[in-house]
Amino acid sequence: MAIAQREIAFQKCISPQCASTYGVEEVHVACPRCGNLLDVAYAWEKARVPRSLREFEAKWADRANPYCFSGVWRFYELLPFAPPELCVTVGEGQTLLHASEGVARYVGLRPGRLFLQYEGMNPSGSFKDNGMSAAFTHARMTGATRAACASTGNTSASLALYCSATRLMKAVIFVGSGKIAYGKLSQALDYGALTVQIAGDFDDAMARVQEVSQRLGIYLVNSLNPFRLEGQKTIMYRVLEGLRWEVPDWIVVPGGNLGNSSAFGKAFIELSQLGLIPRIPRLAVINAAGANTLYRLVEQEGLRWNGGAPRQDLVCSFYAQMDAQRRRAHTIASAIEINRPVNLPKCLRALEACQGVVREVSDQEILDAKAQVGAGGLGCEPASAASVAGTKLLVSEGVIGPDQRVVCVLTGHQLKDPDATVAYHTTDQELFNKVLGSRGVRRAAFANRAVAVANDLDEIIKAIQLYS
Ligand code: F0G
Repeated sequence: MAIAQREIAFQKCISPQCASTYGVEEVHVACPRCGNLLDVAYAWEKARVPRSLREFEAKWADRANPYCFSGVWRFYELLPFAPPELCVTVGEGQTLLHASEGVARYVGLRPGRLFLQYEGMNPSGSFKDNGMSAAFTHARMTGATRAACASTGNTSASLALYCSATRLMKAVIFVGSGKIAYGKLSQALDYGALTVQIAGDFDDAMARVQEVSQRLGIYLVNSLNPFRLEGQKTIMYRVLEGLRWEVPDWIVVPGGNLGNSSAFGKAFIELSQLGLIPRIPRLAVINAAGANTLYRLVEQEGLRWNGGAPRQDLVCSFYAQMDAQRRRAHTIASAIEINRPVNLPKCLRALEACQGVVREVSDQEILDAKAQVGAGGLGCEPASAASVAGTKLLVSEGVIGPDQRVVCVLTGHQLKDPDATVAYHTTDQELFNKVLGSRGVRRAAFANRAVAVANDLDEIIKAIQLYS
């Protein structure tokens, strides 16, 4: 590895009380000294940081260069942890900031104020590719030959894709039985990943994959991995790029394992420290009501970053109660059906830096918002629509003003969890009840129902004339 990188980048414990540092070439998922999460940190004064974000525009003219084409690596100077020639790209991050009038109206914002950052356009269909290109790069730097993750679908599809497209590593994925979306499982299988189905849910798979990867020395790519979050910072760089480098008022993102919210907070903290943005936007993290650990801890128990020493007693007693009551996450938004978010402390730091808020939304609100995104945006999976449902709630509370500029991150593609979409729009009451009624969804106010018609030309023409 080039000496330069070792001087510029290092790993650092997020706890200011510990603040231990480790080499960028080392592999850890937690601080070996105190067990806290690690950051990738930079000696910025030794790096070549642009003086203005506009300097990145020069890369637009060089799309034949894969590192300029990549929506992650064209911001290399803001995540310079690897020698440039080792950076792995499959063309991730060609995503879009889309202004949606229909969704703005739905959430109560003035025209032109609501933007959807559509990460479903990534090669494997979700934002995970941003982080995977970075984690994969680090794995390659360390000479890894196998990489593993636990997943409800998107992380596994992403890891499997990077393995098959680059042939650099073998993918090992852990999924909870019956807890992975079929479309995503099909990707992992198609890409040739070793798929381990265990009896349990995502949290169980997450705990096991950590044990196994430590025991067998397999590189772990879940968002505990600080390098993954470096890649996810670039989602925010592209949001700024889409707004011609103007800072929006709010970023709204679904919260599951809290990797995105943590990465976004880090991105803005760094940009602000580097003098590249004049102010930091506010952050709203949206939980599903059936998987609301962050909401309850922050908004009800008052858990805060607290100078890097969040109150562990609050967290421990919350989890102890969860176990005692046998409460398990339960939501149609499979990607955020998570009990114990692994990035909780980093998310608390982000909430503090971004004057953040946390809200919970029901599966009903999620599916209604999703239908609105489909009808007037780019389409997304249920978990992603939590950001739109959360925005609607925050506008109704007066926390977000109708004139503020809001970016909702649509984390994943519409073709994940298609059962939920079809059940929402169906005329088949039995199907509706089976898929959605069991989750407390009572109605489909924005359903687009298929028209049943006899196999008869006149009847078909009559139906089309009537409905179109
Ligand atoms: N949205 C989508 C589409 C996701 O796939 C995930 C996580 C999240 C949001 C939550 O993001 O952890 O950054 O708060 N999916 C994981 C997976 C669990 O296995 O693919 P976070």
